[in-house]
Amino acid sequence: MRHFVIVGILVILMAVLTYFGLQAADLMPVQASEQAVPVDWMWNLDLIAMSFLFALIMVPMFYSLIVFRRRKGDTSDAEHMEGNTSLELAWTILPLFAVLIFAYLGAYSLGETRRVDPDAMSIKVTAFQWGWKFIYPDYGITTNELYLPINKQVVLKMESTDVIHSFWVPEFRIKQDVVPGRITEYRITPTLMGAYKVRCAELCGTSHSYMESPVIVVDQTGFTSWIVDEQAKAAVAAATPEGRGERLVVQNGCAACHSIDGRKGLGPTWQNLFGSQVKLTDGSTVTADEAYLTESILNPTLKVVKGFQPTMPAFSFTAEEIADIIAYIQTLK
Ligand code: CUA
Repeated sequence: MRHFVIVGILVILMAVLTYFGLQAADLMPVQASEQAVPVDWMWNLDLIAMSFLFALIMVPMFYSLIVFRRRKGDTSDAEHMEGNTSLELAWTILPLFAVLIFAYLGAYSLGETRRVDPDAMSIKVTAFQWGWKFIYPDYGITTNELYLPINKQVVLKMESTDVIHSFWVPEFRIKQDVVPGRITEYRITPTLMGAYKVRCAELCGTSHSYMESPVIVVDQTGFTSWIVDEQAKAAVAAATPEGRGERLVVQNGCAACHSIDGRKGLGPTWQNLFGSQVKLTDGSTVTADEAYLTESILNPTLKVVKGFQPTMPAFSFTAEEIADIIAYIQTLK
């Protein structure tokens, strides 16, 4: 009996220490959305359960190892035991209830994170290898940064143009796959202003780890002025070929691999590219003129630049769009 009391006290002590230790480890990033509240509540319950189970296994094990070890000169056998029906019933029924309770709480929390606000602002998201594009249909804006007003639910209608990606902003907690051929929804109500990042959470090819975009939560005034700015920028850009080209580059995520300042990325930099001599993997050299750039956009693996892998996906642009993009590349000196 004495042993049970000691082990019982040690289990509680160990469970409490483990729980506070895990909490102090700061495993979660800052909580930045309404939907994160039920997730963090559930996570906290999990931490309590984990800490208790950890203590329940570790403490009796180490206690037995130390207290009931074989003493010097003791050669007798251990006591023979033939099962224990009440113990077996207990460790079958108690975990069964624990699992059922957690299943209920989990389903309830999931429901909470999906609560629909009928006034939610709708944003179209396109995921592609390897970037994100955001379209605000109410404002006619296309961008690769996700601006969100605080304390207002948005619903992202997401689709993929190629393989499966996954939309994940750790600070918002919720994660949702983006699957080609269907539209998946992601509802979020940001509650903390700040700059975050959406990360792709589904292995989607060579540049999966670079598939990030800024997510910026601002107040309503900041959001309105951003909309006005973006609309003005779009109007200015639409007036010149290089302006249109730059927007196409931004919207299609080209900058994820091609720098414009000479840095080597997954693809060659575009600085001083136009008109230069380009060495290819087969040893030959080509001039980076309109014909070569057009061919490399439409069929990127045909002529691969020396020192790079043929990983660029093919893009389909109209002839005018390609002319605009090349006009933009020509400005990059
Ligand atoms: Cu997209 Cu990983």
